[in-house]
Amino acid sequence: ICAFFQPKLLQGKRVLVTAGPTYEAIDAVRGITNLSSGKMGYAVARAALEAGAEVTLISGPVCLEAPVAARLVNVVSARDMLAAVKKEISRIDIFVSVAAVADYRAINTNKQKTKKTESGITLEFIPNPDILEYVATLPQPPFCVGFAAETEDLERNAEAKRRKKKLPLLAANLAQDTIGSDESMLTLFDNDGKNNLPKAPKIEQARRLIKHIASLYEKQTE
Ligand code: CTP
Ligand code: CA
Repeated sequence: ICAFFQPKLLQGKRVLVTAGPTYEAIDAVRGITNLSSGKMGYAVARAALEAGAEVTLISGPVCLEAPVAARLVNVVSARDMLAAVKKEISRIDIFVSVAAVADYRAINTNKQKTKKTESGITLEFIPNPDILEYVATLPQPPFCVGFAAETEDLERNAEAKRRKKKLPLLAANLAQDTIGSDESMLTLFDNDGKNNLPKAPKIEQARRLIKHIASLYEKQTE
């Protein structure tokens, strides 16, 4: 009963979450994308709401019901997602970048459906903007949290990523264990080292992550 009267962990904080994959069109009916169900990002949005935050959820194409209390912005491509993030970012306290953003998009996209030929096709790709890096290197960035799904060398890759993007916190997991699943294992990397969160449903992992974010955020703003 005491907990009921305690202020919630993120009461009144404005949290922005990106979730799901992005889809990069090649022609009118085809594109490339990343494997991502959006479950973890949506769970993070839900956990942030439970913690009393005001939540905006910018989502790539997924088949999930968004939490009703979140403000949902639907996007398709990485560039759409960046534009949506830019619109929100100046009023945000905490940015959690869970989206599996496609690293590349095709050049010379076709507005029509490309017809099949005997000879096959060659596509050329160019890099997409890095949304998290953009936000983390703003002059006055919000508290930024990255996600990394790795297939090998989890610890080395995750810590390298965290440093490169100058993040106070990065959550990492193994792609093969987590994609599409309702459960995950997470390792949190921050300036004090790492924390292993044992296997649990994604909503539970999201609640643990939000607790960790809240404690680091509080320390940072002390
Ligand atoms: N990210 C992003 N915009 C991109 C690529 C990644 O915002 N264009 C964010 C993801 O949402 C995630 C973090 O950056 O929070 C790490 O993404 P990841 O794909 O693991 O790292 P990359 O830097 O893209 O490196 P690589 O794919 O080569 O492992
Ligand atoms: Ca990537």
